[in-house]
Amino acid sequence: MSNPIEDIAAKAMGTVKAVSAGFKGLRGVFLHLAEEHGEVGALMKRLSKSSDAQVRREHFPHIRAELLSHEKGELAEVYSLLANYEQMREVVVKHNDEAHTLEKAIAEVDAQDYSSEEWGLSFNRLFSLVQSHVEEEENDFFPRAQQVVDEAESKQILERYEAAKKAVKQHVQ
Ligand SMILES: [Fe+2]
Repeated sequence: MSNPIEDIAAKAMGTVKAVSAGFKGLRGVFLHLAEEHGEVGALMKRLSKSSDAQVRREHFPHIRAELLSHEKGELAEVYSLLANYEQMREVVVKHNDEAHTLEKAIAEVDAQDYSSEEWGLSFNRLFSLVQSHVEEEENDFFPRAQQVVDEAESKQILERYEAAKKAVKQHVQ
């Protein structure tokens, strides 16, 4: 007969294991990118709730630098490498298009005055583009990429990605 207390303990252990195996089964650089998505998503959600120009002025530059350096780091060190695999070409093309759309949406926010209603509208448009981009990456692009990149390689890519992101950040801030 099974012991209910033991069943609960086993379930809890299963949860712990699932978490340590990575968010949505992602590992290495892909897990790290997904974690960064979560962080910038939380910052954007908070800012989307404010219409205070001062709050926008204070927080948007950091979000902007995060988005641009993440995207450029990804293009330079992750997707450029995936382009070597025939089966990933379609993903790379789609990703490049979306990265371009995101950059244009960032430029649209930049063009608005912090105190205007248009600023809020462009920021919310950018936020929803980021959300759908992130969802596509985590549910489709990254799991597919993990099939061609092994764990050791994924860790090396992570180091190069972080260096590239840091370098880009110095220019965008
Ligand atoms: Fe991306």
